[in-house]
Amino acid sequence: MFEIIDGKKISNDIQSKIKLEVDQLRYKGITPGLAVIIVGSNPASKVYVSMKQKACANLGIYSEEHKLEENTSQDSLLELIKSLNADPKINGILVQLPLPDQINTNLVLETIVPEKDVDGFHPYNVGKLVAGLPTFVACTPYGVIKLLEHSKVHMAGKEAVIIGRSNIVGKPVAMLLMQENATVTICHSKTKDLPSVCRRADILIAAIGKPKMVTKEYIKKGAVVIDVGVNRLPDGTLCGDVDFDDVKDITSKITPVPGGVGPMTITMLMLNTVKSAKIANGIK
Ligand code: GUN
Repeated sequence: MFEIIDGKKISNDIQSKIKLEVDQLRYKGITPGLAVIIVGSNPASKVYVSMKQKACANLGIYSEEHKLEENTSQDSLLELIKSLNADPKINGILVQLPLPDQINTNLVLETIVPEKDVDGFHPYNVGKLVAGLPTFVACTPYGVIKLLEHSKVHMAGKEAVIIGRSNIVGKPVAMLLMQENATVTICHSKTKDLPSVCRRADILIAAIGKPKMVTKEYIKKGAVVIDVGVNRLPDGTLCGDVDFDDVKDITSKITPVPGGVGPMTITMLMLNTVKSAKIANGIK
């Protein structure tokens, strides 16, 4: 029998703890603050941003949304980031990606001061992660590790295989799994015989962006499968990178889509924002 890893429940449990922490900070006169910047009107980005605002409101975190036109110049976006860098109400700055073509994404991410980089995308924070130093960890990889911890999956000595080498998920999740002493393999579009590499995995992380690509032939019996994919099928329904119904019976634990990794991403953003507020106020 396989177990469904309930990301919604784990996320709610963590949010209850964050709320208590925010309440305690309020007694000290501290309110964590998050600024979210959205450029243009990508429908998925709009949904994510409104979910982030809602989570802040539920937890008592101050939030402000900055909506910029699709044709906004790079300079005006950089000016906004610089003013938020200097704003003491703001502990976290998040620029929703992707950005329109006239804007250099790397330059934008490097303009956010590392102390307010709650997305963990600044090269300084990425470097700290690689070096094993404490830092802001990107929210989706952080959420994957928290899901595994809360589901009592022991990572030390296990074979972990990641499909996908993105800066946002694949690479950071590999670093985190290595820190947990897993043996890590990162696969990508040029990997030879992908199914056989994936069948080595005690823990398989799918972060490819291809609907239901991972089928039974990719799975070792008893593997834990974490599906980071969020894809929309032609009929409008959401699905992951894993063909859930095809593989579930040979897994030991598996995340659903939706309701697996997704809810954790926003919760980790809240965790990072509170952590930033604590550091800014000299609280451990
Ligand atoms: N777009 C898709 N995922 C993310 C994320 O984790 N952070 C930001 N800023 N944009 C995204």
